[in-house]
Amino acid sequence: MRERHGPASKIPPGVDTSVPNIARVYDYMLGGTINFPADRHLAELALQIAPDAPAMAQAHRAFLRRAVRHLAAAGIRQFLDIGSGLPTQGNTHEIAETAAPGARTVYVDIDPVVILHTRELLASSPTATIIQADIRDPDHILKHEHLRDHLDFSQPVALLMCAILHHLHDHESPTEISRHLVSALPPGSHVVISHFHNPGSSRPDVALQATESERLFNEKLGTGRWRSRDEITSYFSGTDLVDPGLVYIPDWRPDPDEYQFRGTRYYGDYAYKSLTYHSWLGGVGRKD
Ligand SMILES: C[S@@+](CC[C@H](N)C(=O)[O-])C[C@H]1O[C@@H](n2cnc3c(N)ncnc32)[C@H](O)[C@@H]1O
Repeated sequence: MRERHGPASKIPPGVDTSVPNIARVYDYMLGGTINFPADRHLAELALQIAPDAPAMAQAHRAFLRRAVRHLAAAGIRQFLDIGSGLPTQGNTHEIAETAAPGARTVYVDIDPVVILHTRELLASSPTATIIQADIRDPDHILKHEHLRDHLDFSQPVALLMCAILHHLHDHESPTEISRHLVSALPPGSHVVISHFHNPGSSRPDVALQATESERLFNEKLGTGRWRSRDEITSYFSGTDLVDPGLVYIPDWRPDPDEYQFRGTRYYGDYAYKSLTYHSWLGGVGRKD
């Protein structure tokens, strides 16, 4: 067991910390302190399958930061981040407000620990707030008074669904949920999506890692789907992918000033990317 974790604090009553939880497992992968032995145990099992998962988690946050900066530069001033996770370095509202002072952010998450810690972080923020809600009930989110108070749906909105749709089962219709949310956005809005990826028979080695990870997640967390490129593409329905399209996340508009995923080894002229590099796809779609 690695030693990166510190004392976890502030857990709302009724939360069973003996059961692993996706927000806290991810927090551990990112080097955070809001996690417990059950979370760390599952993370360590996941690391046996994908040893560079922490580097990939960092690369994923770097993708999110680049996407938010890109959208702020494109004039977006409103951000709706669903499945926002525990506060970490470079949260969406911080990136957005640094790039575009006055930008407004609404976070949404189902997890009471995420809600508690994010509310604490945002206690004095006039521009950012969090709503406790379930993405599987998109109408509840869209009609929520805090969302309507904070965001003006006559102006473009950036909808972030990063590392959340792979926690929906197929029967929960992630395509329909995404379509529903995107349909509520005004023209000029964008959607940012990242998702676990299984390339199938085109890369049996990556597919095996994806299948093993999926089995572990479902056994311990009850969710986790590594989907095909076509399935993930369907979540951008109603938008056009902006350049460079749906790509492995370190390759989405890489920035030399940002975190670089070091999963490449060179054998002479041949560059070998780690299996984990192929396990996340991300992109940004624009709604006209
Ligand atoms: C892996 S974290 C991703 C955090 C952040 N979006 C990122 O990409 O760095 C997934 C988050 O989705 C939240 N989540 C999972 N299922 C959800 C649901 N049905 N509705 C809302 N949030 C959900 C979890 O609580 C967790 O905080």
